[in-house]
Amino acid sequence: MERAALARTAIPGFNIPYFPMMEPVVRALRDTRCFGLIMVARLEWVKFAAGGPRPIYELYQQVKDERFTRLHLDHVPVIDEDHLPVDYEAVLGEAVALGYDSVMVDASRLPLEENIAATRRIVDMAHASGVAVEAELGAVMGHEAGPLPPYEELFASGKGFTDPEEARRFVAETGVDWLSVAVGSVHGAIGASARREKKLEARLSIERLEAIRQTTGIPLVLHGGTGIRKNCVLDAIRHGIAKINVATAIRQPYEALLESAPEESPEAVYRATRKVIEEDLELVGSVDRINPGTAAG
Ligand code: 13P
Repeated sequence: MERAALARTAIPGFNIPYFPMMEPVVRALRDTRCFGLIMVARLEWVKFAAGGPRPIYELYQQVKDERFTRLHLDHVPVIDEDHLPVDYEAVLGEAVALGYDSVMVDASRLPLEENIAATRRIVDMAHASGVAVEAELGAVMGHEAGPLPPYEELFASGKGFTDPEEARRFVAETGVDWLSVAVGSVHGAIGASARREKKLEARLSIERLEAIRQTTGIPLVLHGGTGIRKNCVLDAIRHGIAKINVATAIRQPYEALLESAPEESPEAVYRATRKVIEEDLELVGSVDRINPGTAAG
């Protein structure tokens, strides 16, 4: 991730809410020579069909290509989307013990002090096994049930955006490796009735992002990677974003075919993943910029 940040490129992370989505994502990464993460978030086994950290880990062992992929545990919230407490230490401990390459603890629904304390505990635990940790500061909205406030109002007010000075303190006190920041993006809806909706087109505050990059100095992560205005995403990669999470853009084409032509849905994931890599994020060949000289495959 640090090499990606230095090379001013980014590592996409693709969420896998259904098992058959994993193989075509790995294939799309390989075919475009893009280095990326295969990810599962807790909500994907609670609200979708990802099974849990172990079945995803086991499937990953069968389809991985470590020239181009690593396995990441996305969002393990301390308080979940439905505002219920989660036994997050147990879930994250299991993933670290299984051999996930990196994990995310998300205590962003808690006040700063409590976010710092929870993140610090996970950093200590994961680093003891050499596993990198991502955390979140600020509010990347969209996963909660119910309608979002009007987007332009949200963006103009900067409500929930990560504060650069808080970010400085957060990174210094937690020792976290990568920080997910709120600078305008929103997550795709996951509620059963809203998950088919087209995502709104988000913008990003590059000014805010640059300020956070300067106070933190670590690789920054952009959640809600589907449907952000393209010039904003490419600018964000130049201003500190080293990892971009993408879920909705590859999940919706899969779900759209589940009833009518399920045998075709993995290929829809392959095509959608390639489109994200080639057109939306322009990351074809990124492995050669991240690992120069290794000439993977
Ligand atoms: P999208 O659904 O907008 O791609 O967001 C994915 C995400 O941030 C998962 O952590």
